[in-house]
Amino acid sequence: MKNKKRVLVTGGAGYIGSHTVIELLNAGYEVTAIDTLERSEIRIVEGVKSITGMDFDFQKIDCLDEAAMEQLFSSNQFDSVIHFAAYKSVNESVEKPLLYYKNNIGSLMVLLEVMKRYQVHDLIFSSSCTVYGQPDQIPVDESAPFKRAESPYGATKQLCERILEDMATEGIRVVSLRYFNPIGAHPSGIIGELPIGVPNNLVPYVTQTAAGVRAQLTVFGNDYNTPDGSCLRDFIHVCDVASAHVKAIQFLEAKSSDKIFETFNLGTGVGVSVLELVKKFIEVTGVTLQYKIGPRRPGDVEKVYANPQKISTAFGWNARYDLGQSLAHAWQWEKRIRGIQ
Ligand code: WQD
Repeated sequence: MKNKKRVLVTGGAGYIGSHTVIELLNAGYEVTAIDTLERSEIRIVEGVKSITGMDFDFQKIDCLDEAAMEQLFSSNQFDSVIHFAAYKSVNESVEKPLLYYKNNIGSLMVLLEVMKRYQVHDLIFSSSCTVYGQPDQIPVDESAPFKRAESPYGATKQLCERILEDMATEGIRVVSLRYFNPIGAHPSGIIGELPIGVPNNLVPYVTQTAAGVRAQLTVFGNDYNTPDGSCLRDFIHVCDVASAHVKAIQFLEAKSSDKIFETFNLGTGVGVSVLELVKKFIEVTGVTLQYKIGPRRPGDVEKVYANPQKISTAFGWNARYDLGQSLAHAWQWEKRIRGIQ
């Protein structure tokens, strides 16, 4: 008698994927996680096992590998899938658009075909607030129209959502979660975002500057039409992002309809500026931070933060961590990987 539901987590060794595996295990699901480990390391998988005290199946598989995906689905009975596996760097996508279209869209196509073949119906998709471009109305809600994506990365998320919307007629039920700015690390300090190359994102650059790995943070522009001139964003703790994925699975489990395509903004609803974040980091860590004001970064939207009403009502979910806690956890992780006391 099958008593526990099994979830396939693609990209399960990644930043958000690994934190989500923790929440799934703690919620009583069996988990199979796959990852190429091209942009992660097996120590993250081991970290998840040590945090939860639970084992789970991990396999080094590329979603683009049709034979491997066929073998995976023929030897497991999955009740649902969470699809994280994708490249996610905005500016890398500008430099390498073909890499992004092939990987982010190609991997989804392989996954959808094998889900259909094995009658696996429920899919949680890792989308992004970049699908909105620069919204006309802030805070942004799910009814906001897609503007032209600022990057190939954002375009892949728009295209994937369109593909998924059309899959309703093929029996795939979808919840698409549009992440705002995930930051921080697990409170244990055992897992977090692995630093690969020079960070594009703000918070890893802040923590690496505080750790002395980078000489100085550059704030990209303070001449925007915002209270302090720097861009506004919605920074959400990665553990809050993770817990919303369990709620998304349970949302689908509770639905009898065979045609579902729902999108949800996954943010705190609180707009925070770049300079406010820098000041909060200094306040919560007591670390001095060298920063300067530089020119605007091409492709940046001026301000974007979520209206989280829909996800709060539908999932009974709210972000638990505030900005200070997220930054404290990010700094704790940075100190751990740099061997700083
Ligand atoms: C945030 C702000 C920069 C670095 C991210 C993800 C993307 C998507 C949306 C999920 C901007 C400023 C940054 C630095 C800075 N999330 N900045 N100095 O661009 O909002 O996109 O969230 O899909 O995948 O990348 O995040 O952290 O790069 O930038 O001033 O050294 O910080 O200009 O205003 P962004 P970010």
